[in-house]
Amino acid sequence: MSVSMFDSLQIRGVTFPNRIWVSPMCQYSAIEGVVGDWHRVHLGALSSGGAGLVMVEATAVVPKGRISVACPGIWDEERANAFRPIVSFSHSMGVPIGIQLAHAGRKGSTMSPWDDHVMATKEEGGWQTDGPSELSYGKFPTPRELTVTEISSLTQEFVTAGMRALAVGFDVLELHAAHGYLFHQFLSPLSNHRSDSYGGSFEGRARFLLETATALRSAMPDSVPLFVRISATDWAQGGWDIEESVRLSQELKMVGVDLIDVSTGGLVDYAKIPVGPGYQVQFAETIKNEAGILTSAVGLITEPLQAEEILASGKADAVMLARAMLRNPHWPMWAAEELGVRIPWQQQFERARRLAPRPSPQ
Ligand SMILES: Cc1cc2nc3c(=O)[nH]c(=O)nc-3n(C[C@H](O)[C@H](O)[C@H](O)COP(=O)(O)O)c2cc1C
Repeated sequence: MSVSMFDSLQIRGVTFPNRIWVSPMCQYSAIEGVVGDWHRVHLGALSSGGAGLVMVEATAVVPKGRISVACPGIWDEERANAFRPIVSFSHSMGVPIGIQLAHAGRKGSTMSPWDDHVMATKEEGGWQTDGPSELSYGKFPTPRELTVTEISSLTQEFVTAGMRALAVGFDVLELHAAHGYLFHQFLSPLSNHRSDSYGGSFEGRARFLLETATALRSAMPDSVPLFVRISATDWAQGGWDIEESVRLSQELKMVGVDLIDVSTGGLVDYAKIPVGPGYQVQFAETIKNEAGILTSAVGLITEPLQAEEILASGKADAVMLARAMLRNPHWPMWAAEELGVRIPWQQQFERARRLAPRPSPQ
């Protein structure tokens, strides 16, 4: 039977009311890693706008795991507790909320995009970045190579951060292994030149992510879904590719990961990416079919019929929207009206329906 984006989806103990999900989006608006008013309003609008899942932006498991000095963290109780009102508002809207657990590795220590995304100085709160090897991203500074002991302790930091997220009520955890950040830096032969057990072969390069997913899964209750966002290809010669992504997805499935959130790119600054409507959907489809795991598709999905076609044709199990949701946090409500489908709206919005409107006030 054909699936609609308005159909619910059950994963473990969580029922997603529909399959239109908010893709994680950095807001560069945290203060010393603490989320505040901006996040409450922004994420609150998304939670009330009809999405089936709101995924909170890349959130660092240790201070050096932030992308910019203005990115949020969940490395202690204070930072975790700042998410409580956001989580409880989302629940009051009937919308599951997830958090993307992240470490930026060699792509960290920047200023915000509106400060030209330049490297932060020490005085501005910047730091010496870490990575799998002493190989830099574009013009970024060369990272320091992590030791094996440090890699193991980072795995533990991901687990502890995940437990903090669950303690404040998050419904879904996602590991950020895409876009050239730390896990992806380990996966790709272009950024990982290690000669120890965390480099070299596919097994070596995938070890850090697989060990972390395994450890996190075994610490999580069975009822909570675990997602992993990957870049299915580096779009660069000699880089990570779709064949390795399928293999990785199979292994992630075996350790209890429920869904692969399929993006691409971000590892090298010279990649040639054929950007266009739905340009990454094919990778979600390949992984879904060949690894036999749920996938979400993301990337220039902007139109209601386009999103519906992706799900109806079985290319993915959910669609993730980012920039379209920034333009219109009520995108799911709008899309349903465009297609003539009646979905539940928050009661405060009811009188704005174009479909079968209630009588206007006298
Ligand atoms: C402002 C902004 C911030 C983003 N931050 C994140 C992030 O924190 N984590 C992530 O995995 N992707 C991030 N992305 C990528 C989006 O989640 C998404 O994959 C990408 O924008 C393509 O989807 P779109 O065409 O619907 O915007 C960000 C994108 C934007 C525009």
